[in-house]
Amino acid sequence: MDNRSIGVFDSGLGGLTAVKQIMKLLPNESIIYFGDTGRVPYGTRSKETILKYTHSDINFLLSHDVKIIVIACGTASSAALPHIKREFDVPIVGVVDAAGYEAVRVTKNKRIGIIGTTATINSGAYQKYINEYDSEIKTFEQACPLFVPLVENGHFDTKVTELVIDEYLRDIRAADVDTLIMGCTHYPLLKNAISRYMGDGVQLISPGEEVAKYLIKKLGGNLRHSPAAEQDRYHYYVSDSIESFEELGSIFLETKINGQVSKVDIEKY
Ligand code: DGL
Repeated sequence: MDNRSIGVFDSGLGGLTAVKQIMKLLPNESIIYFGDTGRVPYGTRSKETILKYTHSDINFLLSHDVKIIVIACGTASSAALPHIKREFDVPIVGVVDAAGYEAVRVTKNKRIGIIGTTATINSGAYQKYINEYDSEIKTFEQACPLFVPLVENGHFDTKVTELVIDEYLRDIRAADVDTLIMGCTHYPLLKNAISRYMGDGVQLISPGEEVAKYLIKKLGGNLRHSPAAEQDRYHYYVSDSIESFEELGSIFLETKINGQVSKVDIEKY
């Protein structure tokens, strides 16, 4: 048993798709979420910068004595996690292992599509993870840099979104994949439009949902022994405007932001 909080971070808002699932699956747990809204996006940055940001995000969560850290960001999980895992004593879980594991489990024809930010796709992390499990699986990757701004501007299922989806996913659809990893935590908000484009035969894997299931496995018996008090349950920290986080965050969480939001100077960590 462990009554400490679960720490979760993302470059901004996308990680709330993981928080939503964690709240659902582990309702007694308390969560400390950090959204690096002042430094988003991570997906267009160099590996060195992503490593530096990931270090400070983890140090910030550790200053709150969390029992485990969830990297709810496809970019930080793929570009930084393999390099920093051994530097910290706290267990750290990322979306790559979680979503990669599920994709390997569900594919029947051994053809998996992977989409993500430019940094995620350049890292080759999903492909590497999948092929370590099963070297016969063929993967088809595509960076989709316009998806994050589409989501952040509310274009979940509009004509513009359909055009961009066609541009990015045409080759992956033609490759006859039966599974598609939405390798960035923003992308589940485009799920309806992506699913319609790819067709019924293609299973979409959502990193937020998978990392929540993975977290349960990793926590083992280290759950709270009683529910956290309502006012202590959810704390959100951001590195930019609290107001815009509360406004946009409720779309990702699919409910009103249900906890206290504070601003943090992340450069200090
Ligand atoms: N949520 C981030 C991810 O999963 C995408 C946004 C960014 O580029 O920072 O990769």
